[in-house]
Amino acid sequence: MNLQAQKEKVGEAAVEFVASLYPDRLKLGIGTGSTAECFIRSLTVLKDRIDATVPSSVRSEALLREMDLPVMDLNAVGSLDVYIDGADEINAELEMVKGGGAALTREKIVAAASNAFVCIADETKLVDKLGSFPIPIEVIPIARSMVARELVVMGGQPVWREDTTTDNGNWILDVHGLPVSEPLGLEQRIELIPGVVCCGIFARNAANLALIASATGIQRLEASRDIV
Ligand code: 5RP
Repeated sequence: MNLQAQKEKVGEAAVEFVASLYPDRLKLGIGTGSTAECFIRSLTVLKDRIDATVPSSVRSEALLREMDLPVMDLNAVGSLDVYIDGADEINAELEMVKGGGAALTREKIVAAASNAFVCIADETKLVDKLGSFPIPIEVIPIARSMVARELVVMGGQPVWREDTTTDNGNWILDVHGLPVSEPLGLEQRIELIPGVVCCGIFARNAANLALIASATGIQRLEASRDIV
């Protein structure tokens, strides 16, 4: 099974999982990226049971509308049953690095508004230790250089993603070489730097469950936290 087929399979598996875990009406948080898009395309089978979807990007919103799924503003919905999204890296604690698609801030917000987080990914994303993938950090544009200098002091090598403006009108620094020995502490330390909007480490909002696709099938990883 090639990588695209694995993403489609894990998208379908997530739809089945959501359908079985929540037998009634559904309010879903929807992630961003190629794996999340496979999930959206499979979601149409549950259309009649979905009261609301809240997307984490303009890109996902467009696809949800194209699929004729009900899109709502988070402010109008309140809390969501479950958030489904991909990751750039995920470890055994189900902590993640996210933001390769520059949607990290809205992803963290919609994840925080959801009662559970199901991460869907292929096995190339599963790592022993986070940090090989450069950590995306969304910054307010005027703070870019200042935040970059702080990150250098912390031991990282920030690179400005010059071709990218986020859905929130901000910029992204990709930080290489930062030691991520304690994900939660590092996430909180980076988010305390003035000008940082969001750090792409998801430790405080780690997943409750991960569905990991490989050529041989779908592996299910559970965190010690309960799913609902
Ligand atoms: C976007 C993200 C995505 O979840 C992450 O980049 C994974 O994307 P893909 O499923 O395309 O590999 O964090 O900001």
